[in-house]
Amino acid sequence: MLPLYGYLFLSFAVFTAQAQHFAPRVLIYSATAAFRHDSIPTAIAALKANSASINVTFDDTEDRTDFNDINLANYDGVVFLSNTGEVLDESGKTALQNYLNNGGNFIGIHSASDSLRNTTFFVRQIGARFDYHADLQEATVNVIGPTHPSTSEVPEAWTLRDEMYNFDADPRDLGSVVILSADESSYTDNGPRRYDQGSPHPLAWYQERGAGVDASGIAGRSFYTSLGHLNETWQDATFLSHVLGGISWALQSNTTRAFNSSGLVGNPEPREEVISSGTASTGNANPTPGSTSTGL
Ligand SMILES: *[C@@H]1O[C@H](CO)[C@@H](O)[C@H](O)[C@H]1NC(C)=O
Ligand SMILES: *[C@@H]1O[C@H](CO)[C@@H](O)[C@H](O)[C@H]1NC(C)=O
Ligand SMILES: *[C@@H]1O[C@H](CO)[C@@H](O)[C@H](O)[C@H]1NC(C)=O
Ligand SMILES: *[C@@H]1O[C@H](CO)[C@@H](O)[C@H](O)[C@H]1NC(C)=O
Ligand SMILES: *[C@@H]1O[C@H](CO)[C@@H](O)[C@H](O)[C@H]1NC(C)=O
Repeated sequence: MLPLYGYLFLSFAVFTAQAQHFAPRVLIYSATAAFRHDSIPTAIAALKANSASINVTFDDTEDRTDFNDINLANYDGVVFLSNTGEVLDESGKTALQNYLNNGGNFIGIHSASDSLRNTTFFVRQIGARFDYHADLQEATVNVIGPTHPSTSEVPEAWTLRDEMYNFDADPRDLGSVVILSADESSYTDNGPRRYDQGSPHPLAWYQERGAGVDASGIAGRSFYTSLGHLNETWQDATFLSHVLGGISWALQSNTTRAFNSSGLVGNPEPREEVISSGTASTGNANPTPGSTSTGL
């Protein structure tokens, strides 16, 4: 009997190794065509400094020609970071739609919901469009909904200085699960509130199947958070755990090469190469702002 058990165990071990063969690679896109947040360089540096905590390699670009089929196919996830306005041309939008149809994962941060406002698939992939925000001030946000990696280290009532966004629709209408909401009694919002964004007031959410995918496509995951306006936010360990948890969750869709060796998109480089080049995690689940950068 012993050899049989040994064989079964070996088969399982080989399967596990294959399932995690590829190292997740994520593209950060921070191009702006209207308002530009001065926190963008701080945000990119913070994501790269903490990449090892989620075993990810980040590249960043503001070059819209990087949105082509060949380049996007190398990524397990694309992060839209604090973009504004028309940040992609028609061929870039088509490449992004193709990427999403091929199982690509999507993460939107802060004013990403104020970009490509007329592009239906993009708006659906985010979940709702930004309408306006309350003046920058201290506010309390609440963790709601199911247990999620993006809120596992966030206090149930979290007070921070950030812009409380209002949206032009309820992201729940597209199947999004809201995991952070604004406590409207904790801050002043002079409005006018023009749209019904649902209740509790949505601030961050996820979609198991990103709604921007075509009917015939393979849906990856989508995560969006409206927080992240200030430099100081990007230096806050709680906020970083929120964003990194969201990115890490999105990558585990099983639709890209990171966790699916037959995925159509995702980093084609084996995980071992990334580990030997020094980006292996120390296993520390708590992101440490300011730790040594492993990115470019
Ligand atoms: C935020 O950080 C960037 C550098 O990363 C700097 O250029 C900018 O002035 C900072 N903004 C504020 C308000 O301190
Ligand atoms: C990162 O990868 C290492 C080595 O494969 C593993 O031990 C660790 O648990 C991983 N950490 C995370 C957060 O996935
Ligand atoms: C988006 O649509 C609105 C309403 O039709 C239009 O006024 C605006 O010019 C469009 N913007 C872009 C960038 O296409
Ligand atoms: C991904 O695959 C793993 C292993 O088969 C499974 O445990 C997990 O539930 C899958 N996740 C999704 C989102 O299908
Ligand atoms: C793995 O990727 C292939 C190709 O995209 C897809 O058809 C399949 O459903 C994926 N497997 C899982 C478990 O998502």
